[in-house]
Amino acid sequence: MKILVTGGAGYIGSHTTLALLEAGFEVVVLDNLCNSSKIALTRVEQLTTSTLTFVEGDINDRALLDNVFAEHRIGAVMHFAGLKAVGESVVQPLMYYRNNVAGTLILCEAMAAAKVFKLVFSSSATVYGETNEMPLHEQLPTGSATNPYGQSKVMVERCLSDLGAADPRWSIALLRYFNPVGAHSSGLIGENPNGRPNNLLPYISQVAAGKLEELAVYGNDYPTTDGTGVRDYIHVVDLADGHLRALQAIESSHGVAAWNLGTGVGYSVLQIIEAFEKASGCKIPYRLFPRRDGDIAECRADSSKALRELGWQSTRGLAEMMMDTWRWTRQNPTGYS
Ligand code: NAD
Ligand code: UFG
Repeated sequence: MKILVTGGAGYIGSHTTLALLEAGFEVVVLDNLCNSSKIALTRVEQLTTSTLTFVEGDINDRALLDNVFAEHRIGAVMHFAGLKAVGESVVQPLMYYRNNVAGTLILCEAMAAAKVFKLVFSSSATVYGETNEMPLHEQLPTGSATNPYGQSKVMVERCLSDLGAADPRWSIALLRYFNPVGAHSSGLIGENPNGRPNNLLPYISQVAAGKLEELAVYGNDYPTTDGTGVRDYIHVVDLADGHLRALQAIESSHGVAAWNLGTGVGYSVLQIIEAFEKASGCKIPYRLFPRRDGDIAECRADSSKALRELGWQSTRGLAEMMMDTWRWTRQNPTGYS
């Protein structure tokens, strides 16, 4: 089967493209490279014996999408393309809603016109917003996301749920990622943020590589083990595997379903620093700062639904996540450039 992977040159998309090729799927990647490099795809090909088709372009370009569907017999779409910087979304909400929400609607219209009704969508644990219940399970209400990025995921989930309810031909997986980290064990592909990183692991990596001086730890007064924020970090290769399982599930079913993809285990910022230092042998200097706006104390998945229904669970632990992150950074100190 041929899979269209939007955003396939990006961090999670490139690891999933590799997993798809390794599983014997044909892959067409559509990416406008606004936050990625084509080199990631060359590296993906280097890691397999297969080749992929790359189309440089935008999911908002309906004519281009129609051409892609006309040229290739696409069986399903994995939709990673989107903007993901929380802070930027607060400053430029329209850009986020246009790209992430309108772009997804255009993609769905083009899919329907081409009679392709299978879709795996990159959602996020951010759709749960702030809640007292932990771990987070799929039945919890969504919709209280505190920033336009999070809201764009809530809105797309809503649109896709309505679409599935209106037309039984659709089969849609909403995959709610927790905190993806790590890199392929080859060190050839990994996360390559533009500019100063927002997320914890890319920031720590750049401190370790000597590109940034010290880490700011945002808040040590949360009701957690050591006062710093707790998250459910998941290895990106496990996450990629979850996409293949979801694809398998929607091949034989109809409707819309959400699955959490996390490990169920939470680590604090200080525990992550310690684990990274152990894996890399580098000291990570850090300083305590007040809480970051919009952050929550803890975010941890109940992924039992994914185990039950997809037969998926994460297999890579914290040490492996840290070692793989560090190998990628060490081997590619300037990312793909
Ligand atoms: P990424 O930025 O590395 O990858 C996104 C890719 O989409 C990039 O290659 C970018 O160039 C491309 N893209 C963006 N807008 C496009 C458009 N209009 N047309 C075509 N291509 C476009 O991000 P990622 O971390 O790989 O995230 C992939 C998806 O997973 C995103 O939808 C993101 O919101 C979601 N997600 C990510 C995280 C995370 O922490 N990384 C967590 C939850 C959900
Ligand atoms: N943190 C720091 N210093 C930093 C960066 C982060 O102390 O420089 C802390 C944060 O306060 C938080 C933890 O590290 O406690 C993790 O922060 P990240 O920015 O790495 O991740 P978030 O949990 O804030 O958000 C990420 C993605 C969102 C996604 C969410 C859930 O950025 O897009 O996970 O999947 F929605």
